[in-house]
Amino acid sequence: MERQGLNVKVSNNDCKSENISRKRKLAEHRKSLPVASVENLLIQEVLRNDTLIIVGETGSGKTTQIPQFLFNAGFCRDGKAIGVTQPRRVAAVTVAKRVAEECGVEVGQKVGYSIRFEDVTSSSTRIKYMTDGLLLREALLDPYLSRYSVIIVDEAHERTVHTDVLLGFLKKVQKTRSRSLNDSFNTENVNTNGLVLKKGNNGKYVSSLRQHRGRKLPPLKLIIMSASLDARLFSEYFGGARAFRIPGRQYPVAISYTRKHVLDYSETTLITIFQIHLEESPGDILAFLTGQEEIESIENLAKETIQKLPESKRNLVVIPIYSALPSEQQLRVFAPTPPGVRKVILATNIAETSVTIPGIKYVIDPGFVKARTYDPNKGMESLIVFPTSKAQALQRSGRAGREGPGKCFRQYPEDMFYKLEDSTKPEIKRCNLSNVILQLTALGVDNVAEFDFLEAPPRQAIFKSLEQLILLGAIANDGKLSDPVGHQMARIPLDPIYSKALIVASQSNCLEEMLITVSMLSVESIFYHPREKQEEARAKMKCFSSPEGDHLTLINVYRSAVDFLNKKKLELNKDKLEKSLRKWCKENFINSRSLRHARDIHSQIRGHVERMGLPLNSCGDDMLQFCRCLAGSFFLNVATKQPDGTYRDFASGEVVQIHPSSVLFRKKPDCVIFNEFVQTNNKYIRNITKIDRLWLLELAPHYHALKS
Ligand code: CDP
Ligand code: MG
Repeated sequence: MERQGLNVKVSNNDCKSENISRKRKLAEHRKSLPVASVENLLIQEVLRNDTLIIVGETGSGKTTQIPQFLFNAGFCRDGKAIGVTQPRRVAAVTVAKRVAEECGVEVGQKVGYSIRFEDVTSSSTRIKYMTDGLLLREALLDPYLSRYSVIIVDEAHERTVHTDVLLGFLKKVQKTRSRSLNDSFNTENVNTNGLVLKKGNNGKYVSSLRQHRGRKLPPLKLIIMSASLDARLFSEYFGGARAFRIPGRQYPVAISYTRKHVLDYSETTLITIFQIHLEESPGDILAFLTGQEEIESIENLAKETIQKLPESKRNLVVIPIYSALPSEQQLRVFAPTPPGVRKVILATNIAETSVTIPGIKYVIDPGFVKARTYDPNKGMESLIVFPTSKAQALQRSGRAGREGPGKCFRQYPEDMFYKLEDSTKPEIKRCNLSNVILQLTALGVDNVAEFDFLEAPPRQAIFKSLEQLILLGAIANDGKLSDPVGHQMARIPLDPIYSKALIVASQSNCLEEMLITVSMLSVESIFYHPREKQEEARAKMKCFSSPEGDHLTLINVYRSAVDFLNKKKLELNKDKLEKSLRKWCKENFINSRSLRHARDIHSQIRGHVERMGLPLNSCGDDMLQFCRCLAGSFFLNVATKQPDGTYRDFASGEVVQIHPSSVLFRKKPDCVIFNEFVQTNNKYIRNITKIDRLWLLELAPHYHALKS
């Protein structure tokens, strides 16, 4: 806690002894982890097996310790690195920072991380945490992943679409690398850890390093790690790979259910937080929510409620954690609270297994998770709030029993639990595959339908997504990437439809506007409408809103923020500048975290397009030009008004409505393009701009002239 107003002098000696005691604590903590007792065994297994599956309870030390064991065992000799993939950005960042601290180095040096839009590594990085999607992108430039001696695919049980694709790709790379080894020596080679011992003429083994196209290329060791995983599925996929179990440790957790069905779980979650705080013994609380918007709304309500408590009961701090949170704020969940203060963490399902937060004794589980769904017949993908699976419910309650006995409050009746699915369907079976297909094609996989997937996605979904890529001009009729558009699209780390929009925009003189648009579309809810200030928020939103629609409205917000920053830049230092921007956001009912994220994305994508040589042009005040460009880019997402005021999605024929958050909600233009489906009780379209239907015939005749 900051001691404001006090002139506290801390002597150098105090700092030193604080450092030493922190170091000692870290070292003790490391030794106490279950994985510490099996270090030697584990290293032997890795040496013996090219592919190893490691299963261990969440919190046993897999993610933070195993890469360090491998480093110490010499797996980074010859400058090679250990790559550790995570399905979630937050996990990659927080774990890298933790491991850097354990190693006593600055993050970005020996230990670093790389996620989309943020690369904190250097040439000296030897343990690199990254998202699984990022490693796939790296493979575009380095198809043999030649800088890695070991790749650890962590959290494999999450079965994100990137994990599944990565596993298939790694299997191929591993084979190629060991083939290159056999081809080049074709003799009795013993390989350990990248070193080849070749039997020489005299019968003695001589050490030599494998060469591949002039580079040293050791075999690729693969480690698949997970908390709860059907090891058999993975083992069979990797030709009977060995599974290694880390002995676990778990205390009992008392589970309670609600008596009746809960209508509004946000409300019961809030009530439960305060019941625990006021009635239960010390210990931190972890509540599982579905997304940023929900977390922020409960965060605000909880903070208001705390202010209403008697002074002696205000010892509760609320800390959010979700993917889009700026990375320096993510670490707050790990910071210990001062004595006598309880913390409540509001998390998405990242806290299920990816991120282990110490000190949790109480878990609140409303039983929902936000996940993607895809209807391949209609080609519609949306994010929907689903009930969790049994496996997820068990993982969540398990978080309460890591350091001692705990309690879990499920916000649903007991019979509901038994009706839950056993496990979650892998994402690859319920998402739009255009991104995956574009990447696999770029990696040289010509026939994606025949790719060796762990579990194949529905064929219908493959064909629908392939069709989309052909319509976007990314894939030519021969199934290969088109030149240059397909290659350019594969290089931009965005959804193919957004990458294409940037290319189209650069050709129609409005890349600057499109860059802002896709950055703003890549974050969750820019506008923030607190319940008790709806009117005021709406009035402020009007200052930004454009009669053309939401895309230009988002551009107005972004540009106003940049103008504000430019004006203040001369008088304020960096910290104060960000602080005053946060104040500006608050006054204008803009979500400052989302805006910050959008600015980060903007600067990263800008770097990409500049490196690709796309001219960063602007249409100035010619908004018609930009709206035409939106129509030419998002021609796959068109909806037209029907006599009853609803809309019909052009591609699927589905009846949809304009989302109430849109600036066009009341205006109801005849024809619109949109960027998102939202499915609640109704089907909504969101992020909408009014267009002239005739433009489509001119700008996307290959689709609209044929279909109309
Ligand atoms: O991967 P696994 O779930 O097996 O465990 P881990 O992420 O390696 O975490 C091991 C221990 O380090 C846990 O006790 C975490 O609470 C702790 N940890 C931490 O205090 N701060 C972090 N940023 C990451 C881990
Ligand atoms: Mg882990």
